[in-house]
Amino acid sequence: MKDWLLQLQKVSKIFGGIHALSEVSCTVPRGEIVGIIGPNGAGKTTLFNVITGAYLADSGNVLLDDQFVTNWAPYRIVRSGIARTFQNIRLFPSMTVWEHLLVAQQHSGSIFRRLLPTAWADPAACERAEEVLDFFDLTAVRDREARSLPYGIQRRVEMARAVTMKPKLLLLDEPVAGMNQEEAENIRQLMLRLRETGLAILLIEHDMNFVMNLCSYLYVLDFGILIAEGSPTEVRNNPVVLDAYLGQDADA
Ligand SMILES: Nc1ncnc2c1ncn2[C@@H]1O[C@H](COP(=O)(O)OP(=O)(O)OP(=O)(O)O)[C@@H](O)[C@H]1O
Ligand SMILES: [Mg+2]
Repeated sequence: MKDWLLQLQKVSKIFGGIHALSEVSCTVPRGEIVGIIGPNGAGKTTLFNVITGAYLADSGNVLLDDQFVTNWAPYRIVRSGIARTFQNIRLFPSMTVWEHLLVAQQHSGSIFRRLLPTAWADPAACERAEEVLDFFDLTAVRDREARSLPYGIQRRVEMARAVTMKPKLLLLDEPVAGMNQEEAENIRQLMLRLRETGLAILLIEHDMNFVMNLCSYLYVLDFGILIAEGSPTEVRNNPVVLDAYLGQDADA
């Protein structure tokens, strides 16, 4: 049997009359990169919000490492090994890159400790932050405030912040949206290197070409329903997907 790190079993989420997720089941094997694609409003971000405890599932189960983590509080989800980035950048504008990496390691501290990251940082946290700065090639901008950084680097800082927490599973919500080709390739390389370290990644992405070379498996959501799954090649050639989502551009 395959060694699943994350399993979703028939997860549903309803907002008023909108079925944002209808009995969605999917899995992420240990150490692999799995993609979720689908048009705007398909329910992709909602899926991340349910996994991370930001939204409560109306039904279904989320399992991490064979443990039920359904509707756990977000801080418990982080502690259990899931970290994420957001579709819209959520950095603290006046905090430096270094401070972001220290704060990320303080999931449970008091608000004062979180506000004064440099005052309390312990050597292990500093060591981890240095390691991640180096991995993400951010050492040169270590003391820059987030707001002073170009968009592409801000996205890299967000990813670095999530990785600092030493997750088993990283959730990336459109990490290359708005990036030029060179920046996107940079992120792709980082993801491949992260996978080499044993990290599993669940990736939301619109660009079929980007996921083709990266993901071992793809799920396709449309109106909250899982309409297809398989290898990138299978999904790319699936008529249901072509009709519902990719259209003629799939071969572009
Ligand atoms: N907090 C919320 N309250 C009400 N409706 C919501 C909420 N969050 C999401 N929705 C609705 O759920 C549906 C799925 O939204 P979601 O953001 O998950 O889509 P998505 O696939 O991430 O789309 P995009 O590609 O545009 O980011 C949409 O109809 C959206 O309007
Ligand atoms: Mg989204």
